[in-house]
Amino acid sequence: MTAHISVLLNEAIEGLNIKSDGVYVDGTLGRGGHSREILKQLEKGILYSFDKDQTAIDAIENNTSNWRLIKDDFKNIKDRLELEGISKIDGLLLDIGVSSPQFDQGERGFSYRFDDKLDMRMDLSQKLNAYIVVNKYPEEELIDVFYKYGEERYAPAIAKNIVLARKEKPVETTFELVDIIKSSLPQRELRKKGHPAKQVFQAIRIEVNDELRALEKVLDDASKMLKSGGRIVVISFHSLEDRIVKQTFKKLEDKNKLDPRIPIMPDQIMESDFKVITRRPITASEAELLENKRAASAKLRIIERI
Ligand SMILES: C[S@@+](CC[C@H](N)C(=O)[O-])C[C@H]1O[C@@H](n2cnc3c(N)ncnc32)[C@H](O)[C@@H]1O
Repeated sequence: MTAHISVLLNEAIEGLNIKSDGVYVDGTLGRGGHSREILKQLEKGILYSFDKDQTAIDAIENNTSNWRLIKDDFKNIKDRLELEGISKIDGLLLDIGVSSPQFDQGERGFSYRFDDKLDMRMDLSQKLNAYIVVNKYPEEELIDVFYKYGEERYAPAIAKNIVLARKEKPVETTFELVDIIKSSLPQRELRKKGHPAKQVFQAIRIEVNDELRALEKVLDDASKMLKSGGRIVVISFHSLEDRIVKQTFKKLEDKNKLDPRIPIMPDQIMESDFKVITRRPITASEAELLENKRAASAKLRIIERI
């Protein structure tokens, strides 16, 4: 199975500005690359690492007393940490998306490069999977998912052909879906660089795992839990995620900003509670890109509670 190479590892760890006695959360454990680096900097501190994929939790050998692994969605960090008696944190790291082992593991069905059953669940205990989306969603809902989460301009043609195909028999595999997508696109689209099924696969994955809503929820909760000087560091891999991170950070920073047209007294000026550390997102260096192609689309943003 493919090992997972952690993306923007040093940049993310530096971005957290770790205090050795702090409480840290890694919302996306994966194979533990980022978590282990955080642990190296902790003395009295503690690290809670979440992953909603039980296979990720099971793959970790943990002999460290200040490392707690939690199998849950990061959207639940507030409630889960409350159970541990934790209401304030010094930092949260999110390295969102799918890990290389998830992508490359036959039966997970995340990739258009392998012929697998349609699945795409990160959490194998949940019901909704790609098979249900593709075979049960009404045509209008499929169009909506493909537009909203894949920014796929041929959404109506693809949805129509899926519905036609499943009248004959259910669409069961990734390659069957790839064929339907290809048959829905004009020739000139098929000649373009990049896989023709990329956007639809992204859209279905986001729908199945409710990825964008989870991101909004965790940023909202974590910003309230953050101690002064604490930081949130997010690595995202496509524009829909990055837009949420950028806009949420900006909103947090601007919260106490007053309308400059309204005259105020000096004692009414309120400092913002948050400061965006990265005006522009940090991206991978040339050296990292040579080693890991997956890093090409990664964007890292940091915000600090003042
Ligand atoms: C890109 S990998 C993280 C890799 C990790 N940073 C490393 O260095 O090994 C993303 C991981 O986060 C998990 N994940 C994604 N969204 C999640 C969510 N909403 N809640 C919990 N885990 C999630 C996935 O199951 C996957 O294992």
